[in-house]
Amino acid sequence: SLINLTTTYNLSLNIVNNEENLALGQRGAFRGSTVWLTGLSGAGKSTIAFALEEYIVSKGLPAYCLDGDNIRCGLNKNLGFSNEDRVENIRRIAEVAKLFADAGIMCIVAFISPFEQDRECARQLHESANIPFIEVFLNTPLSVCEARDVKGLYEKARKGLIKGFTGIDSPYQSPVHPDVIIDTNEISINRSLEMIIGKLAERSVLS
Ligand code: PPS
Repeated sequence: SLINLTTTYNLSLNIVNNEENLALGQRGAFRGSTVWLTGLSGAGKSTIAFALEEYIVSKGLPAYCLDGDNIRCGLNKNLGFSNEDRVENIRRIAEVAKLFADAGIMCIVAFISPFEQDRECARQLHESANIPFIEVFLNTPLSVCEARDVKGLYEKARKGLIKGFTGIDSPYQSPVHPDVIIDTNEISINRSLEMIIGKLAERSVLS
């Protein structure tokens, strides 16, 4: 009906038009987007991802994290850690993230994603569809990640019990043009969030 259409139209204006929002005094601008966290195992990807998700959801806005628990155990359970499987892992994740973002959700992606070319493909996939893509490099040094060794995997990798572990005997290519760089050893979670949220505001993803 006309009433429903008007309501829908006003609602979408309310979401995308910043000035309108301010005038109405309601929630700020928000766009579906992908925040892509990359870094070594133990760099702090999951911690930052879930803190960001919690922050966005606390504002009444939609956000969803993709991580090993919900992707590698389901959609990608046929993939391991060979270079070829990592490429396919990231390719599928990029496609899923784009769908979430296209549906108006902030998709927060937390995978090592060790290869520059794959992250660049993910960016292209989003940008060619005019969907904001923010690459966040968790630049926590290997020595710090290894000292944390939350899952005991670095120790196993050093002993040769796990082959092809990122940072030990499998490469991690640092991002060439990250949108945000965070060393979680130097910077608190709150400050990390501020940096990411600042970049999101700069890119008009939220206000
Ligand atoms: S990738 O490279 O992006 O496909 O990796 P990802 O899907 O993020 O999975 C990384 C987590 O899997 C565990 N794990 C390994 N990581 C790196 N190399 C090898 N060989 C490996 N085997 C298992 C590890 O716990 C990673 O966990 P995070 O969450 O990154 O700490």
